[in-house]
Amino acid sequence: MRKIAVLTSGGDAPGMNAAVRAVVLACERANITVIGYKYGYNGLLENNWVSLCARRVHNLIQRGGTYLHSGRCLEFKTEDSAKTAAKHLNEEEIEGLVVIGGDGSFRGAEHLSQYWQGNIVGIPGTIDNDIAGTDASIGFYTAVQTAVDSIDKVRDTADAFERVFVVEVMGRHAGFLALNAAVASASNYAVLPELFQNEASCIRDIVHQVRTRSETVGHDSFIIVVAENVWPDGLDDLSTRLADSLSLEVKQVTLGHVQRGGSPTPEDRMLATKLGVYAVERLIHGETNIMLGEQKGVLCQHPLSYAWKNQKQIAVDDINILNNLLNDRFARPS
Ligand code: F6P
Repeated sequence: MRKIAVLTSGGDAPGMNAAVRAVVLACERANITVIGYKYGYNGLLENNWVSLCARRVHNLIQRGGTYLHSGRCLEFKTEDSAKTAAKHLNEEEIEGLVVIGGDGSFRGAEHLSQYWQGNIVGIPGTIDNDIAGTDASIGFYTAVQTAVDSIDKVRDTADAFERVFVVEVMGRHAGFLALNAAVASASNYAVLPELFQNEASCIRDIVHQVRTRSETVGHDSFIIVVAENVWPDGLDDLSTRLADSLSLEVKQVTLGHVQRGGSPTPEDRMLATKLGVYAVERLIHGETNIMLGEQKGVLCQHPLSYAWKNQKQIAVDDINILNNLLNDRFARPS
């Protein structure tokens, strides 16, 4: 392997820079030239790249966002686009490509592999943590930390007025971020796509928890964490319906893209560094069309398609904790 390229694609995640840095340092150590394509797959289509070396990635490990920029490139689904990308990769004499992103980015990689002979390795990077085959994806730990910090602050003001708050967190269509943020911030209820049944039963459950808590431990603040895209008519609708049912004011906070930014936590830096080095090792070894991960503390690999053929499940133990301490804390009437 003489020359490797790396790109970051899809929603940026804290730790992507740490992964790029690790790829670059591992390449330098193995005497492999490395370049970075900019703006995800857009960079491949426009042949927009930068040379990378240890000096370029100095002071990068602690930075959020992505130095290479990112992009969601819908155009890349076409045959012409993949052929253009393959042509550019061949012109630059690239033999291995590292794609850092989510399952959409891995689908792009698989598509490219049908038109390009080089080897491709995917590194999971998304705050949603919705990629099967790895216990965590790069950026997840930092996003949980950011959400928890924010909810702690919401709790301060919620306590002052003994108010009910609904706090929306990201996650696309997965509840990992919502569950972890809710449990770690000692919120009082979490609405997750994996557990949601219908609006009426959810409102009934929350109202029961608020009222029983008030009767049992006294009136207090109550924080409901809601994963984005779960409530069919959005956060306004949920807040209004709760306010009507409870006859209380209900405040709402959307954490939004704040969760995507910030300096990666040590866990994300470590995961990114291990996966970046491992990606170069796998490419040197001749592997292709694989995604990497870490499961139970061990680095692992799966075919790229593993990411979209398998739906990642929330651990049963985590759901039990959520139910015992939050959603079902006060027994429901039978
Ligand atoms: O996949 C990461 C993510 O932040 C999701 O949680 C969210 O639904 C989506 O990206 C937002 O995408 P965009 O930044 O394009 O609005």
